[in-house]
Amino acid sequence: MTNEAPKRATSMRTGLCGLLGPADVDQRVALCGWVARRREHGEHLAFIDLRDHTGIIQCVVDGRLDVRSEYVVRVEGVVRRRPEGTVNPRLSTGEVEIHDCTLEVLAAAETPPVPIVDRVEADEALRFKYRYLDLRRTKMQANLRLRATVNGALRSAMERNGFCEVETPLLWSPTPEGAREFAVPSRLHHGSFYVLPQSPQLAKQLLMVAGFDRYYQIARCMRDEDTRADRTVEFTQLDLEASFVSQDDIIAVVSDAVAHASEAVTGARPAEITRITWADALDRFGTDKPDMRFSMELIDLSALFATTSVRAFSAPSVKALVLSGGGSLGRARIDALIERAKGLGAPGLAWFRVVPGEGGATLESPLAAHLSDDERAGILAISGAVEGDLVLAIAAEHDLACGVLGNLRVHLGAQGVAEGEHRYVWVVDFPMFEGLDEEGNPAAAHHPFTMPHPEDLERLESDPLSVRSQAYDLVLNGWELGSGSVRIHRADIQRRVFDALGLSPEEAQARFGFLLEAFRYGAPPHAGFAIGLDRLIAIFAGEESIREVIAFPKTQSGADLMTGAPKPLADGALRDLGLVRAPAKK
Ligand code: AMO
Repeated sequence: MTNEAPKRATSMRTGLCGLLGPADVDQRVALCGWVARRREHGEHLAFIDLRDHTGIIQCVVDGRLDVRSEYVVRVEGVVRRRPEGTVNPRLSTGEVEIHDCTLEVLAAAETPPVPIVDRVEADEALRFKYRYLDLRRTKMQANLRLRATVNGALRSAMERNGFCEVETPLLWSPTPEGAREFAVPSRLHHGSFYVLPQSPQLAKQLLMVAGFDRYYQIARCMRDEDTRADRTVEFTQLDLEASFVSQDDIIAVVSDAVAHASEAVTGARPAEITRITWADALDRFGTDKPDMRFSMELIDLSALFATTSVRAFSAPSVKALVLSGGGSLGRARIDALIERAKGLGAPGLAWFRVVPGEGGATLESPLAAHLSDDERAGILAISGAVEGDLVLAIAAEHDLACGVLGNLRVHLGAQGVAEGEHRYVWVVDFPMFEGLDEEGNPAAAHHPFTMPHPEDLERLESDPLSVRSQAYDLVLNGWELGSGSVRIHRADIQRRVFDALGLSPEEAQARFGFLLEAFRYGAPPHAGFAIGLDRLIAIFAGEESIREVIAFPKTQSGADLMTGAPKPLADGALRDLGLVRAPAKK
């Protein structure tokens, strides 16, 4: 047996199925697991593929078998080389088998309602309902074990960097982060509620006031909001906060932690993570979550078309994208791109094939004839497009043109990315505020405790929407992996930010008075971050949905199909919680 096996020997077994190999030949072994498959060869010979979490081993049994798939059995026998011609290269144990077997049934099993093989992808609802069976699949086992590896690597990186693990409450008071909270009724205080934390944000800031200096936690977070492939109502963060630090210090610590996790998973430490400002990310990639696995940067043609007489190009901004080799795209594909752009709100999508002309490359499209010679030459010169390429352009408001082309960029570029490639990027200098709320006040882009950029502080009152914050995101392969900020630790700046948000002192006091009070007793400058662990692990596992790396996930509508939660409570329980009136006493 390999070195690992003796550690797993128990009073019932000598080792594990998937670890057996030629080195174990002639050993007498006892193995426990599930019957993955059984085949009978006449009356006197039967084969069982026995499965545990390490893999499958073939067992040869004399006589008929009284077991079915997924029975739990204990097999005792002797390891031998498989006879010539029967080696199975698809199994890690394919060179050997167990013969001379005795078999004990430990538990019978009904026919599983979902297939327990990786090549059949069962209906998601069924998989969630019978998750404990779905998790028996090799792929799901690998995903959850990968998760454990990543958690372990992150934990050790945090410990190595001097962070102290602290658990914060799950029964908490409403927080200011905007997402919807799950409420928990109090049995002892009828009419009052706890909420489940959307993140340990305020608790970790209080730990800084308490002098912990460096805190981290693998924290469960709950948000009662609509979910998607990268969002679910219950998720996990690697949450951290540190005192007497700047943005650069947090970026260094988080970069080290994810590099450590990447290394634990892939064996290779990723390259130094580059940084880009939020404004540049939008301008060059059309999104604040740029996928850096492919270049295809957006090109700015606004100056070229500033005085154009072509109606389609008279707009505040003209942005373009070059699809290398895209000149061969047929009209149907181009029309589909136009529809996609319009569906995203663009007024239209101009396209030009770069084709050979008399004096070199030229543009071909229904629009090309309407452009001046200078405009045609300018498009080629600025974009650098060459013969065989396709140039796509949108003339619109800046953010709209960038956003739609950013979407097309990912749509077209992602097709060529190599499997298993991980490209991180830091996005810094986020705006402090994001549009206006219903009352016309600027809304906090991150949360109201985020420190404004020192160079922009003076414009907090006069031009709040132009103020940058000291907030930063980590992006991996086009997914927002995590975000954080330098926090406000000074009461005067906090007051000004609350004012800018239209939050009265009374309101601020009612919502997070306990934090403001704590800050009166000496708050160190501090900053922090939270990585979405489900997202990180899904990307490492090559999964499109974070639910594939969560043991017992909820559906898009927040339902747990296995337990049936959420469920109605019995009348008695509702009364105890004060959620229905107790009947009047006679
Ligand atoms: P934020 O809300 O940006 O910041 O969350 C940080 C990261 O958590 C992950 N995440 C989610 N993952 C799955 N499902 C969800 N519903 C979900 N919501 C968020 C994302 C995201 O980037 N307290 C701040 C952090 C800080 O400032 O320190 C916070 O929670 O990967």
